[in-house]
This record gives sequence, structure tokens and C-alpha cells, in this order.
Amino acid sequence: MRYPKWAANNRYIEAVARSTHNLLLTRDCDIFQGCGETTNSTSRFTYKTMVNKITVVGAGNVGATAAQRIAEKELARTVVMVDVADGVPQGKGLDQWESAPIEGFDSRVVGTNGYDETAGSDIVVITAGIARKPGMSRDDLLNTNAGIVKSVSEQIARSSPNAIIIVVSNPLDVMCYVAKHVTGFPRERVIGMAGVLDTARYRSFIALELNVSVKDIQAMVLGGHGDTMVPLISYTTVSGIPVTQLMKRDKLDAIVDRARNGGAEIVKFLKTGSAYYAPSSGAVQMVEAIVLDQKRILPCSAWLDGEYGMKGLFLGVPVKLGRNGMEQILEIELTADEKAALAKSAEAVREPMSVIKL
Ligand code: LAC
Repeated sequence: MRYPKWAANNRYIEAVARSTHNLLLTRDCDIFQGCGETTNSTSRFTYKTMVNKITVVGAGNVGATAAQRIAEKELARTVVMVDVADGVPQGKGLDQWESAPIEGFDSRVVGTNGYDETAGSDIVVITAGIARKPGMSRDDLLNTNAGIVKSVSEQIARSSPNAIIIVVSNPLDVMCYVAKHVTGFPRERVIGMAGVLDTARYRSFIALELNVSVKDIQAMVLGGHGDTMVPLISYTTVSGIPVTQLMKRDKLDAIVDRARNGGAEIVKFLKTGSAYYAPSSGAVQMVEAIVLDQKRILPCSAWLDGEYGMKGLFLGVPVKLGRNGMEQILEIELTADEKAALAKSAEAVREPMSVIKL
């Protein structure tokens, strides 16, 4: 596609790309490449749009909210919500689609009880499972959710053998293991969402305390998605300024503690369910990084194969996310305390892993 010489500024090119993007939504295409010509030089640009199909398994609060966010960001031509509950995915999917004319998205949202409609998905987000009730730990969900994630994974392996799976179901790191084990997918294509959520909670509390923009808080929470998660204080900055220069250590420790119990804090308020706005945001940030091949560095649960001196388990580590899924695990320097905390966190993941039967 060529643009006239007078299409000199990038804003114009972007505008053209945007309107073209809308047209492209009527086709099954995932990447649009165009040539932009400017008065100064001829520059080539790539405008990436969407994948063909993203499936969200589970039409509960996390799943439905994730599907809606994916559709609103137009990350897929079709968003399929699948759930065993009769009518629920259909009803929620239709309701979301009816919001499309107002919100202005062209991703089709559909709900279903079977896996036929999910066939050939590029990405599958697994949110299926029961949620925590007050007083329950994530591990209390172990056996019930392992059974659910196992059966879901079998269906995904059959209907979408090339999909990238993002696991959200709890206990997270163990459910990632179930999905990887059952599908036999390589580790690049089974990734867990936890660190993004734990980090978002941590960042949100720091922003509140300092009364600064959340956008300026850079941080990373590693380890398992549980009480043993490891917020990296040494890598927490506010626009590059080490957070320890802006906040007293006891305040920071209180924030770390609150982030660790962030999920339970919400469960306590809601009484009949667990968090879903932030968890769905976390999952969709990962989906977006993959769809748009952003190469973002995000804390995700990944299958370790020697990294950080560990092997054969999923644990939250810094990961590069791109179109191929988990493209790299970054091994960063940790303090002795952080190393010890990570090892403890790994133990907390291995224990439930060893008791489930697959
Ligand atoms: C939480 C649940 C989703 O952290 O694990 O809120």
C-alpha cells in the first residue's frame, strides 16, 4: 500500500493505518504490512492488528471480564468464551457483542458450551475452576481445579494444537503444570498469569502511598502466586529512582505484605468470590504482549529448566513475551534474601505439585 508524497507526517500515516485497520477487521488477517512514503524518505512500517481467534475458558467473573477487555482492545477477530454452564457464556458473549456498537469494537464475541467453536485458537486463556471463599488458601482449590484444568487442557490440545495457553486458574503455578503436562505443549506455549497481577497490586499501593502516577512505578514480583511471592524491592523504582529513596523501609514492608495478601483482601470484602478486575487485566496484558509481539518483559509463571538453579516446576520469573509466547527467561541478579525467598516459594509450589494425580 502506498501513500502520497504529501502524507508527510507520521500522524497522517497512523490515521490512515487506523482507518485501514477497521476495514481489515472484516478479514481474517493478523498482520498488516504497509509502505509509508514520506517527503524526506521512504519508510516502511508494520501495523500489527489482531489474531484470528482467542478463546477464554471459563465465563465466570475473571473469564468474562478478560473476554470483554480482549474484545475492547480488538486483539482478536473472534473472541470465544467457553463454559460448561448452560447459557452463561452465550448470554454474556451476546451481551458483550451488543456493547460493540457503543464501545466501537469489531471483535466478535461468542459464547459456547463446546470446543468446536474454539478450534484453531491462536491463544487460549484458562480461567476455569472454582474461586476462593473467605478463609481458603489458593491451595485449597487444588484437586477440584486440577481436574477441571486437566479436562480443559485435553480439549484444547485436540482443538487448538498450536495455541499459546495463558493459565489464570488457581493454584496458579500448579495449574500451569497440569496444562503443560496434559497438552504436551512446549514451555514457550504454556505461561501463567500471576506476577503481572501481584506486581500491579504492589505498584498500585506504592502509587497510593507516594501520591504519584501508577505509570511511573516500575517493579517486579517473582516467585509463586501465593503467600511466598517475592517482591523485588531492589528493582522497584519510581521513574528510575530507587523506591527506598522515597519511602521508609517499614512503609515499604507494609506494602509488600499487603501485596502478598492482595488476593485475600479482596476475597474478604467480596465474601462470595475473588478478585477479577485486576486478574483479567493481568491476563489481557499478557495476551496483548503476545498478539502485538511487543517483547515485553513481564513477571510470568514459566517452566524452569535450570534457570535460577531450578528445574521442573513453574515459578514466577521475568519473561520476554512476544508472538511466540514465552520467548526468553531473564536471569537477573538477586540478593541473598531474594534468592532464599525464591527457593522457599519454589518449595511452596513443589509440595502441591507432588500430591496431584494426573
Ligand atoms: C487473586 C486470585 C485471582 O490473587 O489469585 O486475586
